[in-house]
Amino acid sequence: MSITSLNGGQPHGAQPIRPKVTTTTIHDKKLRHEPITCLTAYDYATARLVDQAGIDMILVGDSLAQVVLGYDNTLPVTMEEMLHHTRAVRRAVRSAMVIADMPFGAYHEDEKDGVHNALRFVKEAGAEAVKLEGGAQRVGLVKRVLDAEVPVMGHIGLTPQSLHKMGGYKVQGKDFSGIERLVKDAVALDKAGVFSIVLEGVPREVAAMITREVSAPTIGIGAGPECDGQVLVFHDLVNLTFHEPAKFVRRYGDAAALFTNAVEQFKADVETRMYPSDAESYHLPKDTKVELEAILRRKEMKAYSR
Ligand code: KIV
Repeated sequence: MSITSLNGGQPHGAQPIRPKVTTTTIHDKKLRHEPITCLTAYDYATARLVDQAGIDMILVGDSLAQVVLGYDNTLPVTMEEMLHHTRAVRRAVRSAMVIADMPFGAYHEDEKDGVHNALRFVKEAGAEAVKLEGGAQRVGLVKRVLDAEVPVMGHIGLTPQSLHKMGGYKVQGKDFSGIERLVKDAVALDKAGVFSIVLEGVPREVAAMITREVSAPTIGIGAGPECDGQVLVFHDLVNLTFHEPAKFVRRYGDAAALFTNAVEQFKADVETRMYPSDAESYHLPKDTKVELEAILRRKEMKAYSR
């Protein structure tokens, strides 16, 4: 535990609170043509910063498999791991809407499992909605999850959980059959009642068409500027991913450089005994110090006289 948390932590109540973001807020933003903002977060510290910056929605994405846990793709991350990170985010967030990403395998075997796992995110981790990948083939599940009172965010286009079926991470909807499939998927999800649809890795023109076609807000990632909102992976935004970014990523900061510099300075200061300084040390009360010095002096004199 750091000293900051012992004596300097700001209670949550001290933060200026903006109104709670709900599915209604998100829907109304589309109606008013106001861009919707969404970022991923996976832990307390970053979720708190993202919430305080006024972002509308925080997605605890299964991308945490790669950017936090170091897996090659999103497939291995488990329900328990997703719940663990969703709880941490929940504890940090006051206003943004918290959405948990259903991991691969959590809804693919049967719909009953899918509903059960969606409920776990709400009941055990405090999520306010779940996201699941897939279009028309998920309509039955979406309806059942909605019947269980859990809002659903759809996700179509380049869906990373379909990595092997897609034959790699490929932009979707580049030919007429692909476009038709995407539009059908979006319309099916919209009719099923999702509160928003992530469009990932889709040509700008197709995303614009879908955005006009559906009443649910579209949230783009690599889908151009005509979507109703945009989502990015937090670690991409701040250069913490250790690889070349995708074409659609804009880096707004360089946390890798900032962190590396801080760690290197700490190492150098410790090795040259520049850290900690006297001012960064705790001290005995004056009386105790004087007494202790006297005891040590007597000990020294005793040893000297032997
Ligand atoms: O897991 C994730 O981060 C996502 C977003 C990229 C939409 O699904």
